[in-house]
Amino acid sequence: SHIDIDVVARTDSTNRRLLAAPVHGKALVAEWQDGGRGRLGRRWLAQLGGSLMFSLGWRFEGGTAGLSGLSLAVGAIVAGALADAGVAAVRLKWPNDLLLDGAKVGGILIEISGDAMGPTDAVIGIGLNLIAPAAVTDQACAGLAGHGLVPGRNALLAQLLTALESGLAEFTEHGFAPFKQRWESFSAWQGQQVELVAPDGSRRAGVLAGLADDGSLRLTTDAGELVVHTGDLSLRRT
Ligand code: ATP
Ligand code: BTN
Repeated sequence: SHIDIDVVARTDSTNRRLLAAPVHGKALVAEWQDGGRGRLGRRWLAQLGGSLMFSLGWRFEGGTAGLSGLSLAVGAIVAGALADAGVAAVRLKWPNDLLLDGAKVGGILIEISGDAMGPTDAVIGIGLNLIAPAAVTDQACAGLAGHGLVPGRNALLAQLLTALESGLAEFTEHGFAPFKQRWESFSAWQGQQVELVAPDGSRRAGVLAGLADDGSLRLTTDAGELVVHTGDLSLRRT
């Protein structure tokens, strides 16, 4: 394998730390994070002994343009690896959440450094709960333990890194295309009534139809098809 693993007991955020000096193929794993990052400035909370939290550095030569579907591709890779590890019930919630029985069990946060033209260093951050952290009180959260998970935490990490190494090579070669159906096969709420909530609280309702070729979300609404690219929108079931 080309992946080199560093384990630290404690850091603020593996994403933040790796982003300061990104290395292709380096995985930084933390037992504890004081400042774990989620999307849009939100926080990712750890559970002592019950969290798998790591970041993987990956360099893409083509600039940022081709990376729009990367976070979804990583979601499909992680969901597939979890299914292989025995947890068949994990579902993906657009754009970056992993759910178990409708509760959040993991999340993906990709941060990049580099400019639009030159090589781009992506830091692929993945947080998974084996045990749901008690400190998360603002939404339902879940843990993988007890849902069929076969390997222990380190073996799961190894399986995830192996899957990421081949999946990211596939993404580099073919882009998002081979991941679209895989993502949809794990999609939570497919065909169900959902709504997209904007930061100002405004909502747009529709039926979740799937993904567009670039990974945008498609909703069937009364006014026709709505296609939304990533941004500050949150998907909710209604
Ligand atoms: P979105 O649909 O917009 O992604 P989100 O509420 O899941 O919504 P994120 O930024 O993806 O937002 O994730 C951060 C949120 O996840 C936190 O605000 C908290 O509610 C929740 N959270 C934090 N730590 C954990 C954890 N270990 N397990 C599950 N959920 C967590
Ligand atoms: C989300 O749901 O918004 C994404 C959460 C991503 C959490 C992981 S834990 C390892 C890596 N380091 C961070 O600071 N965040 C990611």
